[in-house]
Amino acid sequence: MRPGESPLARHLRAATAPAHEALDHHALLAPLVTDALDEAAYGRALAALHAPQARLEAEVAGAIDALAPGYGFTRRVADLRADLAALGREPSDDSGIRTPGLATPAGLVGALYVLEGSRFGGAMIARHVRRVLGEDTPVRFFAGDGVGRHWRAFWDLADGLCGPADHAPAAAAAEAAFEAFRAHLDRCAEPADLPG
Ligand code: HEM
Repeated sequence: MRPGESPLARHLRAATAPAHEALDHHALLAPLVTDALDEAAYGRALAALHAPQARLEAEVAGAIDALAPGYGFTRRVADLRADLAALGREPSDDSGIRTPGLATPAGLVGALYVLEGSRFGGAMIARHVRRVLGEDTPVRFFAGDGVGRHWRAFWDLADGLCGPADHAPAAAAAEAAFEAFRAHLDRCAEPADLPG
């Protein structure tokens, strides 16, 4: 089976499709994959992503050794900060971010799915950003490193830790992690960016 095609993977992808769409259609992130992207919009998107990324990574790093020793979780927030510094921008502040509970295997898998999945989808964003803004644009965060290897390792872990009864709680944790991103993006957006 290819990574990301197990029953758990199909469940998580279907359950979180609306939450993913709320992010990829969000006023702060949608420009990332348009030809109208400029450096200011790229910097705003990275700055807004910083706080939930930093918080969720810290929570996962704190929980993972008890539940999945040897996984080799790697954080990406240093790459995000390096891209921001290269663009001359400040990261967003992470106060007020609520993340899901990660003390159970299902909770950990749900939150990790959001982090590892966004690493996986980020490769496409990096290619687009470089094409529109130029090959010298700092894209360490989106381009990632060893993206396919991380994606395979994640599904090996997730499918090993979760049985059918874990599908729903893992999806709930993933939805809560997505919601932490969405709520923070809303806080970072200008009123004119938001619907209604
Ligand atoms: C403009 C913003 C975004 C775009 C255009 C985008 C695009 C994509 C794409 C194209 C994929 C599929 C990659 C592939 O199959 O090769 C993907 C997967 C994924 N992305 Fe995003 N993404 C965005 C933002 C985010 C954010 C902010 C997060 C989480 C914080 C996220 C989480 C995920 C997850 C979990 C998957 C895996 C879905 C699966 O199970 O296959 N994405 N994304």
